[in-house]
Amino acid sequence: MDIALQDSRLFRQACYSNGEWVSDGNAGSIEVVNPATDEVIGRVPSLDEGQVSASIAAAAEGFASWRKMSVADRSACLRRWFELMHEHKEDLARIMTLEQGKPISESLGEIDYAASYIEWFTEEAKRGYGEVIPAVKANQRIVVRPEPVGVSVAITPWNFPAAMITRKAAAALAAGCSMLVKPSSLTPFSALALAELGERAGLPAGVFSVLTGSSSVIGEVFTQSTTVKKLSFTGSTEVGRKLMAMCADNLHKLSLELGGNAPFVVFDDADLDLAVKGALAAKFRNTGQTCICPNRFLVQAGVHDAFVDKLSAALSEFKVGDGFAEDVKQTSLINADAVKKVQRHYDDALEHGAKVVLGERPGALANNRVAPIVLTGLTADMQIWQEETFGPLAPVMKFDSEQEGIDAANDTPFGLAAYFYASNNDRVWRVSEALQAGMVGANEGGISNAMAPFGGIDQSGFGREGGRQGMAEYQQLKYVCFGESGPTM
Ligand code: SIN
Repeated sequence: MDIALQDSRLFRQACYSNGEWVSDGNAGSIEVVNPATDEVIGRVPSLDEGQVSASIAAAAEGFASWRKMSVADRSACLRRWFELMHEHKEDLARIMTLEQGKPISESLGEIDYAASYIEWFTEEAKRGYGEVIPAVKANQRIVVRPEPVGVSVAITPWNFPAAMITRKAAAALAAGCSMLVKPSSLTPFSALALAELGERAGLPAGVFSVLTGSSSVIGEVFTQSTTVKKLSFTGSTEVGRKLMAMCADNLHKLSLELGGNAPFVVFDDADLDLAVKGALAAKFRNTGQTCICPNRFLVQAGVHDAFVDKLSAALSEFKVGDGFAEDVKQTSLINADAVKKVQRHYDDALEHGAKVVLGERPGALANNRVAPIVLTGLTADMQIWQEETFGPLAPVMKFDSEQEGIDAANDTPFGLAAYFYASNNDRVWRVSEALQAGMVGANEGGISNAMAPFGGIDQSGFGREGGRQGMAEYQQLKYVCFGESGPTM
């Protein structure tokens, strides 16, 4: 298939292991489909256990040399990778829209976002500070030094095919680790394009590899390997739990960015225009397929109707179509199962008394497309209250007191993100402290950036990506107690 890139070498139908492109998978190959057309856009090899194990062994060698390189050299390599992403931004975005479906403007935005993690960790690489601690005895010195954990692996999702890789890989490489990535089989080409650019940037063999194939095969080898020291996963809570159990034997260090069920609370004193702007940005980005998407809109009685009207009016202007079409805001969901899930939540909500303010039953449009939907009358007995929808469906509940709003927001075992809008300063502080989530947007719908520690609590997992905390996930502390060396010879 001709995908019309300026640099056709960025579209690799091979995986990248130990600095080499491998097009033969011992377990066959996997077809990758454009969700907007159901057309096959290419194939990637499906590696077997032996091929994955060989790649891990190469990553151990890559680690041994990478950790010894000076921080300045490692950082220069990462900076070149970042620059190459910008130079090839248009092609990378095109590959992403083809395999993932998101609007091309959002793909371009994701390439910037993904590259910003490399830039951030390029700088953080130089700041791997340790500590010198006053010792108990006069002739002792206590030095604490962060060291790279070693070979790291990442299992990444399809919703952000580039950013979910760079925020793990750049942190790992900055810390001095090597990394093997297993991207989603739905969107491997963005990951492989990153590997191509990493190779051009001069990342040594074995330092960054992208392995394609079955999640269960690769996941099993990753978790059973004693060479692997760290696993980072972004995906569902169900799979995260399984991976954690599988890592128990080898006590791999873990970061798990799991499911969310974010509340978006609008209080009576909120600026409604700002709240609607925040809702559009947070909920409808990536056609609602984001872990930090608001899943439940909770609106105080005094502004409920006005907020619903303004939100619906803004959404009725949203153009739904192909990711490459101009001005398109909402595109295809990743596949037919994703549409069915939104449909199930919609049907269940209506059975439990919800009213449709905007939109129609999911499934009516061709090409896995779903236009924005606004429902009122959300209640806690609906499926949508308990599970993330991962689609452009905004259900709204009306509440009376501030405490009622906070309690409803916290009525979930997930704790990834939460958003609220209010103007009273005391309330802003109070609510930001009361919401139980790893990330809170206080009058802000766009909370993702490389400088901040992204991550959740409770059933949304643990570990942080980005910020100065992101690199620490790939480090372990070594404490050295220096005693007396005795008389010098
Ligand atoms: C996610 O959906 O897991 C990531 C979203 C983001 O980085 O903003």
